[in-house]
Amino acid sequence: MFFEIHKDIPREGPGNNESTRRAFHMLTDLTVHPHVLDVGCGPGMQTKELANLTDGTITALDRHAPFLQKLDAWIAENGLTKKIKTVQGDMFDLPFEEQSMDLIWSEGAIYIIGFERGLRGWRKLLKPRGYLVLVVSELTWLKEERPSEIEAFWMENYPGIKSAVANEGIAEHAGYQLINHFTLPEAGWWEYYRPLEQRVEMLREQFPGQVNMLDALDETQREIELYKKYSAYYGYTFYILQRQDRE
Ligand SMILES: C[S@@+](CC[C@H](N)C(=O)[O-])C[C@H]1O[C@@H](n2cnc3c(N)ncnc32)[C@H](O)[C@@H]1O
Repeated sequence: MFFEIHKDIPREGPGNNESTRRAFHMLTDLTVHPHVLDVGCGPGMQTKELANLTDGTITALDRHAPFLQKLDAWIAENGLTKKIKTVQGDMFDLPFEEQSMDLIWSEGAIYIIGFERGLRGWRKLLKPRGYLVLVVSELTWLKEERPSEIEAFWMENYPGIKSAVANEGIAEHAGYQLINHFTLPEAGWWEYYRPLEQRVEMLREQFPGQVNMLDALDETQREIELYKKYSAYYGYTFYILQRQDRE
């Protein structure tokens, strides 16, 4: 049901190309031909933007084959088979050699493994000595005090949600230095929610009597309505982190 709702939308999470570019340009000392790993790439919106930004190579990994098939078709159409390859795999057990990546990129997907576990587990794939960077966007509280309705919603749906300060502490303990961070603008949420809202409307007409589907559609719509009401209280934050190694 989840994949029926999320099929054929350009993004599977909040984001926009402008923010992908903004984060990438913060990697001032990245090598010229980096090897980039995009974890939880989904339909690949940020993968495509990364391909515009770098002269390096990109491995785009996701668990869900239909997303990868679509991305593969786009890669072939655009003559980028030497530059981007897709891998069906699991972010809990990434099938790559230690110290093989210059940059790990993950937009809106690290919540699946958890911020801290992802940071700790993926670190070994990064090459050592400071030039190598991990970028993640992560659901983050923007204010200390929150209305109880939205606090309860995210505690139920993503209890790992924290403030940026708390996440910075976790990153430091996991062996990274925070290079920069910024909050995704609201427009980035609407790049995801607008097509999703249209799809919810379409599916309501398509599945009028199916209680389970209608419940799932109501839940999706509720998340969108809560964002309209409480967008000042939470957002997606890009954390630009650099692997630190003791001398
Ligand atoms: C919220 S979507 C974000 C996708 C994309 N980065 C974007 O912003 O459009 C999370 C993605 O993680 C993928 N995923 C879920 N569990 C996974 C796992 N264990 N390993 C790898 N990918 C996974 C899903 O298939 C989905 O494409």
